[in-house]
This record gives sequence, structure tokens and C-alpha cells, in this order.
Amino acid sequence: MAFPAHRPRRLRRTAALRALVRETTLDATHLIAPLFVKESIDDRVAIASMPGQYQHTLDTVRKEAAEIRSTGVRAFMLFAIPARKDAEGSEAWNPEGIGQRALGALADEFGDDAVVMADLCLDEYTDHGHCGVLDDHGEVDNDATLERYERIAVAQAGAGAHVVGPSGMMDGQVAAIRGALDAAGRTDVAIMAYAAKFASAFYGPFRDAAEGAPRFGDRTGYQQDPANGDEAMREIRADVDEGADFVMVKPATPCLDIVRRAADLGAAPVAAYHVSGEYAMLEAAAANGWIDRRRAVLEVLTSIRRAGAGMILTYHARDAAGWLGER
Ligand code: PBG
Repeated sequence: MAFPAHRPRRLRRTAALRALVRETTLDATHLIAPLFVKESIDDRVAIASMPGQYQHTLDTVRKEAAEIRSTGVRAFMLFAIPARKDAEGSEAWNPEGIGQRALGALADEFGDDAVVMADLCLDEYTDHGHCGVLDDHGEVDNDATLERYERIAVAQAGAGAHVVGPSGMMDGQVAAIRGALDAAGRTDVAIMAYAAKFASAFYGPFRDAAEGAPRFGDRTGYQQDPANGDEAMREIRADVDEGADFVMVKPATPCLDIVRRAADLGAAPVAAYHVSGEYAMLEAAAANGWIDRRRAVLEVLTSIRRAGAGMILTYHARDAAGWLGER
């Protein structure tokens, strides 16, 4: 029998050889940790569907962020839940509101040593749970919503956000926010656009965490149909044209093809959001002993990087960075 000429196994023989030919890196600096802060609670509250994640107070969010920072992660995405919700979500742009106070706490903790990002949306702030204000027919009114997003962006910049992350999927949101920030003299604040955000079942646990589930209907009128890849690319190109500094694809693992296409486009740094349901699936399987938690988490995050994501928003940031630090 002839020996096979091609023997890839030669380069898999030892850990050192495997490290030498490894194509994809995963490092703590690639990770962005999402954090939830809630107004008027005395202590942090565990999120049942996201084991290990909490709704934080202003004190505990600062402590948690500092601990995560000590693992090497240096970026955070902040979500806030106000005590008072109304039809237009006005707490979202209150300079003294919970979101702005939490941004201030992190800005105070880190200065420029970490990147502080603010989710920019209305679903946590509206009493109906939609990502925008409603018209007379109960539909989300795109352009009236943009006016609110502009106010939120300026408030978040004022509170210390380095980056704002519009996640509501309104048409023209990046241009509107860029214009408002520039007009306020904040040309220095960057925009991470949730550019290709699909109407996904995997946001379920997040809606418990952020208390922003729609009271009626769903988000299919503004988030994208998971069947549409070309449309995702049009969304990404439009956001770049409007001034997005980063483009984000969400959710991550069901959309690795879109992550790859966005990376190949080369128009802006690409982020992928490994969302709450993706976290919950891994945690549930691991808790049952069905998968090895550490290996599965690192495999998934590495695969998202391999698909082309420069950075990953993930609730596993803290643990993953800890494991990576041990290597
Ligand atoms: C909306 C928003 C959502 C997520 C991030 N921003 C929820 C939604 O669109 O319903 C989901 C994130 C996750 O599931 O981890 N402000």
C-alpha cells in the first residue's frame, strides 16, 4: 500500500505544533461584557434563565465590572432598567436616570482604561416594551423614535459613554444619532450599530433580564427575518454609509455566515453578539453534565472569531477571559 502523501496529522502531534499552526486567536481583549443595572433594588438579583448573570445595583455593577476588568476584558455594554416606565421611555434620556448614572459609575471606575458602551434603545424604558414610540395604530413610529434616540445618544455621551450601541433597528438610526452627537460637539463618541439584528428566539432570557418583553405583538416589524442574508448585507452597508464605526451581527452562532460576509466586506470592524439564549443553552447543557462547559464555551467563541468577528459581546466574557488567562 502506498503511503498517503498528505498527512495533516503530522502537525497535530503535539500541543506546541498545534499552537504553532493555530489560525484563530481568542483573547480577553476581543470580549465585551454585557451588564444589567436596575433602579431601586437593594442588592443584585440573579437572572433565573441566565445562571451567573445578575441585575445589578449601581454599587454591584461597578464591583462586577472591576472584577471582569481584572481578567483582562476591557469593554462593557451597559443595559439599564428604570423604576418608572412610560409610553415614550423618557427615563432613557434623563441625565440623572439609571442608565446615565451607571455609565457615570463605570466612567469613574475606569476612565479611559476600559471602553464603556451604552445600549441605545427604548424597550427597557417603554411601558409597552417596544423599541420605539407608537403611532395611533399601535405601530412603532420610525421617525418619531429617531428623535428620542437622538436625545438618548447625547445623554449617554454626556454621562461618559465612549460608544453608543443603537439596537432598535429603526431606519436611519445611525445617521440620526451621528448628527445629534456631532451637533452636541461629541464627534469623539463612536457608534456600534446593531446593523444586522434578526428577530430571534434567542433573545428570550434577555427579556427577563432587561424586563423589556413587548406587551403585545413582536419585533418582526423592525428586526430582520432570519431567512435573509442579502438583506443583512444591505443593512450593514447602509449603517456604514450613515457613519457606523463598528457593525454588529446578532445573534452570533445562527448567523456565522453573515459575520463572515461582513468581515469580507471590510467596511468597518465587525462585532458579533453571542446573545442570552446562546448563553442559556450552553449553561443548561453544561449544568446537566451533557457538555464540558469550558471546552464548549471556548469552542463557540473561537468559532465566532474564525467566522470573522473582531470582537464578541458575550455573557461568558468573565469566565472565558479567566480560562484564557490560565493558558
Ligand atoms: C433591545 C435588545 C435586545 C437585546 C439586546 N438589545 C432584545 C430584543 O431585541 O428583544 C438582546 C440581547 C440578548 O439576547 O442577549 N434593546
